[in-house]
Amino acid sequence: MLPIEMKKKIVDKIAHAESPREQAIDVMTEMQNYYGYMSDEAMVEAGELLGMTPLELEELATFYNFIYRQPVGKYVIHICDSTVCWMNGYESLLDYLCSLLNVELGGTSSDGLFTLLPVCCLGYCDHAPAMIINREIYGELTPEKIERIIGKLRDRAYSAEKGIGE
Ligand code: FES
Repeated sequence: MLPIEMKKKIVDKIAHAESPREQAIDVMTEMQNYYGYMSDEAMVEAGELLGMTPLELEELATFYNFIYRQPVGKYVIHICDSTVCWMNGYESLLDYLCSLLNVELGGTSSDGLFTLLPVCCLGYCDHAPAMIINREIYGELTPEKIERIIGKLRDRAYSAEKGIGE
């Protein structure tokens, strides 16, 4: 169950929308930020708030790459597998990421920090190859750059866990 304050804010937002449906992705995103992913129970809860059936929400969630229906890591890496990135080294970067994190595409690292998923063109083709992690976009990727990014995120997660710099 969502905290009362959060639920109130969401209900308010829905009430001010022309149609609840237009708020569906925002509502699911907000709930996902709280729950970590959209479980079946969370979909039912979202449906009740929006006046939509879980099936209607499921249809939207299927089209939107950033709603997760399964548990994911703290950082979700979406690596672009569309044409321009493909031509600029996607495959070798994917192999590199998989070995660095010790995961398969679609998997989550054993420390629970990283989930690796494919995504269609991010609109960042002039900086290909590209990936997006928790809404931050990275381009002109090389193995060295990826290693630095992953290292920083690991440090950040470690610091947060230890309560350093918060
Ligand atoms: S093809 Fe990868 S960002 Fe466009």
